[in-house]
Amino acid sequence: MALDSLRDFLDAIDRAGELVRVAHPVSARLEIAEIADRAMKSPGGGPALLFDHVVLDGGRRSAYPVAINAFGSYRRMAIALGVERVDAIGDRIAEMLELKVPEGLLGKLALLPRLAELSKFPPRTKGGRPPCQEVIQRGDEVDLGDIPALLTWPQDGGPYLTLPMVITTDPARGTRNVGMYRIQVLGRDALAMHWQRHKVGAAHWREMAARGERMPVAIALGGDPASIYSGSAPLPPTIDEFLFAGFLRRKPVELAPALTSDLHVPAEADFVIEGYIDPAEPLVLEGPFGDHTGFYSLADYYPKVHVTAVSRRRDPIYPATLVGRPPMEDYYLGHATERIFLPLLRLTIPEVVDYHMPAAGIFHNLVFVAIDKQYPGQAYKVMNALWGQGLMSLAKVIVVVDKDVDVQDPDEAWWVALNNIDPERDVRFTMGPVDVLDHSSRAFSYGSKMGIDGTRKWKDEGFTRDWPDRIEMDADTKARVDAMWDDLGIELP
Ligand SMILES: Cc1cc2nc3c(=O)[nH]c(=O)nc-3n(C[C@H](O)[C@H](O)[C@H](O)COP(=O)(O)O)c2cc1C
Repeated sequence: MALDSLRDFLDAIDRAGELVRVAHPVSARLEIAEIADRAMKSPGGGPALLFDHVVLDGGRRSAYPVAINAFGSYRRMAIALGVERVDAIGDRIAEMLELKVPEGLLGKLALLPRLAELSKFPPRTKGGRPPCQEVIQRGDEVDLGDIPALLTWPQDGGPYLTLPMVITTDPARGTRNVGMYRIQVLGRDALAMHWQRHKVGAAHWREMAARGERMPVAIALGGDPASIYSGSAPLPPTIDEFLFAGFLRRKPVELAPALTSDLHVPAEADFVIEGYIDPAEPLVLEGPFGDHTGFYSLADYYPKVHVTAVSRRRDPIYPATLVGRPPMEDYYLGHATERIFLPLLRLTIPEVVDYHMPAAGIFHNLVFVAIDKQYPGQAYKVMNALWGQGLMSLAKVIVVVDKDVDVQDPDEAWWVALNNIDPERDVRFTMGPVDVLDHSSRAFSYGSKMGIDGTRKWKDEGFTRDWPDRIEMDADTKARVDAMWDDLGIELP
């Protein structure tokens, strides 16, 4: 059954035995981060944490509890999306995309509902007062200091909202975007919006700024977990994340009109912060921020959001995450994206059998790809195709191996790739956009990329020597040793 709210999600996590409620007083300034970091670094991602007694600056107790690391395990990510394993969603999408026209009229008719599945659960607007507007503050009543935004690392420029859904509209097309972008709290009613230049929210803002129009923005915190996840998913700009969340949940996301703009906000959110960006205003300094690279992102200039209203549930829970040296909670959000998007990647690059972005590569630094190689040079074709796809274009290092390599196991992928390369022959460099967070590139968001062809080399590729087989014991010997194993007296861990 679909989970409709953050509270439902935390209850489900609790039933699965993966929630720890903390009653001890802890500060939103660094202490929650240090505790969460220890949980996230423990095997399997550690438990989700719900802090009941949160102390704000000045010693005040927060009126709201703080939940962190809710998405931070394979199990909890699956609970969030209502499946046993997130791969099931990839399978569901692969089935939808299997467009081979079946025999006979009945078969053809049966295809239609499958095609319509993505749009079967569009978001719908609810009448009456939505839960997210049970309590409303406008204008001078607004004080973001009441929200337990976390200071996450010692050199951070200030407290941050770390798990938001940022809702904007494309002024030309009218399409909605929901993006997860960190937001710095600058004061009672001001925020700095860290949408990076390659992201859809930033594109909407550039368009609004070119028109010289004020840009309405809504920031939802909490609500149903599929919507929260969808904000982090790299969907094409024209696909509404709330439609995608409805598809994932198999149930529409309920929306409500915002109070101070034409935007719509998730009715079940715990908090909604409404505001606008004025393109006539100068950008503000955002950061530094201890980032998911494991290094600080330097301070830079981003748009300022003026807050016009804050609404909330009567009993909201404030959702947060912590990023830093991997592995962290965001690895599990990204892993869900990796699994869900595999069939979509295969639509345009069908030879991709599997791919994996290991935690230490923080998504954009390292992508392993296993391909079904059918012709010479195909590894380069795949790299170039990946560098031409959405946010995959930011990948710094792509390592391509043959389909018999388990790329989910980074040790195996490196073992095979490093054995298979003659570096001068098999490594290529190219240029392109790089992630805004890359601190090593020669220019901000622009730099080089490396492709490693770790596939077996063919004669057609100019390789004339014999290629060796992988070492494996023969089946007869294995069976004989299996049969005698218990009598050998060898205990292996
Ligand atoms: C915890 C977390 C924090 C993130 N912070 C940012 C951020 O501050 N700025 C940004 O541009 N992307 C950030 N991202 C990545 C975006 O959410 C992701 O690229 C998403 O696809 C953006 O949505 P869009 O494609 O609609 O722009 C973050 C992702 C996660 C999981």
